[in-house]
Amino acid sequence: MNSPLFNEFTLKNGTVIKNRFIKAAMSEALANAQNQPSEKIFKLYEKWADGGAGVVISGHVMVDRSALAEPRNIVVDNEAVLPFLETWAKRGTKNNTHLWMQLNHPGKQTFKGIVDESVAPSAIPLEGDISRFVAPPRELRHEEILKIIQRFGYSAKLAQKAGFTGVQIHAAHGYLISQFLSPRHNQRKDEWGGDIKGRMKFLLEVYREIRNQTIGDFSIAVKMNSADFMKAGFTEEECIYVAEHLEKEGVDLLEISGGSYESPQMTGRNVKESTKKREAYFLDFAEKLRLSVNFPIMVTGGFRTKTGMEEAIHTNATDFIGLARPFAVCPELPNQMKQNKVQKVEITPKQTGIRAIDDSSLLESTWYAQQLERIGLGKHVRPNYSIWFSLFQAIIKNGKEVFQLRRAR
Ligand SMILES: Cc1cc2nc3c(=O)[nH]c(=O)nc-3n(C[C@H](O)[C@H](O)[C@H](O)COP(=O)(O)O)c2cc1C
Repeated sequence: MNSPLFNEFTLKNGTVIKNRFIKAAMSEALANAQNQPSEKIFKLYEKWADGGAGVVISGHVMVDRSALAEPRNIVVDNEAVLPFLETWAKRGTKNNTHLWMQLNHPGKQTFKGIVDESVAPSAIPLEGDISRFVAPPRELRHEEILKIIQRFGYSAKLAQKAGFTGVQIHAAHGYLISQFLSPRHNQRKDEWGGDIKGRMKFLLEVYREIRNQTIGDFSIAVKMNSADFMKAGFTEEECIYVAEHLEKEGVDLLEISGGSYESPQMTGRNVKESTKKREAYFLDFAEKLRLSVNFPIMVTGGFRTKTGMEEAIHTNATDFIGLARPFAVCPELPNQMKQNKVQKVEITPKQTGIRAIDDSSLLESTWYAQQLERIGLGKHVRPNYSIWFSLFQAIIKNGKEVFQLRRAR
């Protein structure tokens, strides 16, 4: 039987994508001391390109080295990084794989020890358990906002020059662009705040700047929250409104996710049982969104079975299947599913029982990032790796990295 997962898809800009599998962004934190991609990154992305995904989206790449989300993020803010990006692009686009760079600025979602002070649309600190780990924010000035917009454009220009076939703007998960979209986090009184028209201006200007600084039919995607799942946060209605504008502007693909450090819905935490029956967390919303927009959509979060993915395509709820954690434990997932060797990827919650760690989903990302490093070292993944070893390894590594960063400044 022909699976719809292996049908080609052509974007409006003419880009042909060989199947419906997209590897969603996973921060690797594997850069060298100059925040450039290293051999581990090249090997990891080559493995994914060999594994059969139609598009591979990189982990978030920072547009400004003074604003990192985590130590060892890759930063693309000057020409010195170009040769490294070229190798990355060459190895990551093997087998007709599209490689898109996810561009991000963390805003106030950055940790103490990386910066002393973060920036945000408004000086409103994060709440909850995560607040004790993150740096307090100050409000961005108008000129600084314009500068950050330019940075997004410049990073995209370098990505295209190096051979990446597209970029994705990270407007989800509570980072800077998502902070601008949120009425809870953006309480500015100027043109960058207020109603949704003002709050989405930053995202639209970032998109326009990237279009300006890139040439031809470069693919530009956006990742956005369906909602923030916070009191007085960004809502589904606002998401639909912004998506309508993104379509008009010419965005090539929209990825739907949800949540933030304060409320990590993207990892499946707090997701309703009725939603879990549908496997992917944001499918119901995607169907609602489809009634208002007519551009390609990718839904990420929760897909685990071939039948669940096939049903999502059959019912036209989404055009693409976004997968993150499954690609960390099964990098060759598309090929394996094509050959009927894998029907399901088992993903279990990574929980310690320590509330401050579990509620913020910190271990959820470090455990998977450790698997990425193993792949980058040419080792096998370890699906049964103990969460306690993982936690210990993370503390040792991050303690050391933060210390190095402090010394470097
Ligand atoms: C280790 C790890 C790192 C992540 N880093 C990013 C990132 O850099 N950018 C992003 O948009 N999402 C990131 N995510 C979220 C994923 O892209 C995805 O939205 C989420 O894991 C849900 O998809 P899944 O159920 O297929 O894992 C990350 C997730 C994990 C597990």
